[in-house]
Amino acid sequence: MRIGVLTGGGDCPGLNAVIRAVVRKGEGVYGHNLVGFRYGWRGVVETQMVDLTIASTRGILHRGGTMLGTSRTNPYKTDDGVRRALDTLRRERIDALVAIGGEDTLGVAAKLGDEGVRIVGVPKTIDNDLSATDFTFGFDTAVQIVTDAIDRLHTTAESHDRVMVVEVMGRHAGWIATFAGMAGGADVILIPEDPFDIDEVCDRIRHRHMRGARFSIVVVAEGAAPKEGTLVTQETEVDQFGHERLGGIGTMIQTEIEGRTGFETRVTILGHVQRGGTPTAYDRVLATRFGVEAIDAVHEGEFGIMVALRGADIVRVPIEEAVKELKTVDRRIYEVASVFFG
Ligand code: F6P
Repeated sequence: MRIGVLTGGGDCPGLNAVIRAVVRKGEGVYGHNLVGFRYGWRGVVETQMVDLTIASTRGILHRGGTMLGTSRTNPYKTDDGVRRALDTLRRERIDALVAIGGEDTLGVAAKLGDEGVRIVGVPKTIDNDLSATDFTFGFDTAVQIVTDAIDRLHTTAESHDRVMVVEVMGRHAGWIATFAGMAGGADVILIPEDPFDIDEVCDRIRHRHMRGARFSIVVVAEGAAPKEGTLVTQETEVDQFGHERLGGIGTMIQTEIEGRTGFETRVTILGHVQRGGTPTAYDRVLATRFGVEAIDAVHEGEFGIMVALRGADIVRVPIEEAVKELKTVDRRIYEVASVFFG
């Protein structure tokens, strides 16, 4: 078989580990011919390809980013995109595709599946907000990066008696904020799932400081928003999948906390640092297991599925199941984190 591989959406530590696993087993064990599409769906629409061989994918296991490049191109929002993508697949005699991506990339995969394209999906996002899998690779690395940052902010917060606001990624779901906040001992964690009341946030910090604490750590997911009518937020641009470019809520919270409580407050926006660099061992293992399962599914002719983690097992689930709704933060975990608030 001639099998195409692509990585779409935001980059994520562990993408290269998946590519390596697909190629190693696909070529080495099954004898298939692997090709990579550059920049996600854009490479399929524009026929931008590279050969993927065991030799060309050597030495990438530990490297962040993606050797194939990535983009947020949506063929369904690009002029003639779907027809061009289907033409490429036909012309290049691609028998099957392994699409590694999040909600958007896999949403396109599900639609192209309905057009007859044979696709296996691999769940990727540092945000961990994809349904049908317990965890996505990249999330563990992001949580570790944020936890390290909070540890560092702790010591400077203590030295200066300051409130430190840390803004982390998480467009629609607060998984990174909740896990890293819990690991880093945050005093307040604000997530997109629960609109916040700035008065309550300030009360919590005041209460903590009245009981003897001289500093506080507030972790806020970039998608967190104030309860309606409580604070004015700024308008932002949207991409081809209709997502707003976020960032800025941390700065707003910093200004409000300092203005309302009088405590000296600073903000750190971690941004793309959270997606960069080497994947943790956990993510390398998860990505490798996903990649091997994906190529096994292709070899066995099982399409329209996504590989997923359920408990300790790697399983296959319909792609539709993964993209039909967002996986928001598990309330039980957030409640544990909230025991330590204020
Ligand atoms: O989808 C992952 C994510 O990290 C989001 O949390 C964030 O909003 C987005 O990517 C930003 O990515 P970019 O700036 O590359 O569009």
